[in-house]
Amino acid sequence: MTEPRRVEHQMTDKGYVPVYTTAVIAQPWSQYSAADHAVWGQLFRRQREILRDRACPEFLASIDALGMGDAQIPKFDDINRLLLEATGWKLIAVEGLLPELTFFEHLAAREFPVTWWIRRADQIDYIAEPDLFHDLFGHVPLLMNPVFADYMQAYGAGGVRASTFGNEPLANLTRLYWYTVEFGLINTPQGLRIYGAGILSSKGESIHCLESEVPNRIGFDVQRVMQTRYRIDSFQKTYFVIDGFEQLFQATVDPDFGPIYYRMKGAEPIPAATVLDSDRVFQRGSGTGWSNDGDV
Ligand code: PHE
Ligand code: CO
Repeated sequence: MTEPRRVEHQMTDKGYVPVYTTAVIAQPWSQYSAADHAVWGQLFRRQREILRDRACPEFLASIDALGMGDAQIPKFDDINRLLLEATGWKLIAVEGLLPELTFFEHLAAREFPVTWWIRRADQIDYIAEPDLFHDLFGHVPLLMNPVFADYMQAYGAGGVRASTFGNEPLANLTRLYWYTVEFGLINTPQGLRIYGAGILSSKGESIHCLESEVPNRIGFDVQRVMQTRYRIDSFQKTYFVIDGFEQLFQATVDPDFGPIYYRMKGAEPIPAATVLDSDRVFQRGSGTGWSNDGDV
């Protein structure tokens, strides 16, 4: 087999350009250096501590159930034995970002792509693209939850379908993924908790999303979310709060999105900062320090 590549973005005179790859490889576990394991350990300890009263209980329980610890980078084969038994999901090792349709197809087959390589020590606090820590620590524990596991598969199948409808439905679905799977909050009897992987793998945003007065926190509504622009270069201006994974499932998996996409066709997307009269507001953000441009 050829050596696995470490596929990262490229800087060109036009700026940052993402690079896509479709190869599915075997996790080259014996090739991780002592420095790689140390980066995992440092990130794991730090996030485990920060997330103790901030992550949803399902996430924290699954970190333990999967045997993840700070001693070394987990072996995907070990995770897979537990994950397959729990929900039928399976990790596959990849070299970097996948093209959208390829990603959807894997999810629809209950395969979660995990980048095999981990960030360098000088990237501990921020890396522009997903690495092993984000993918494995952030995304994989919730795949142990049966309802969330089914949501992720349905999302993949919905993505394959949306790609036959054109660019606007795809943009709608991407926003849904962003505001749920990557940056979602969940309401619990103990208060708001994090379930989005983009937050769970970030020290700064784990604190900001729950404790800061700056962002909006708004009740989840599927159409509202599918119309809302987001940020990729800063903390989110708005977080959407679900009442539980069952609510998320019922709002997204049950309805046929065909007519919804049709109704939303041509509608002007809502800026990331906006609070609507119809929103269920947990917190109206102060907006301090926000820049006006840069919504995706
Ligand atoms: N129900 C959606 C459709 O009809 C599919 C979907 C499921 C989308 C889950 C997102 C999340 O296309
Ligand atoms: Co992610």
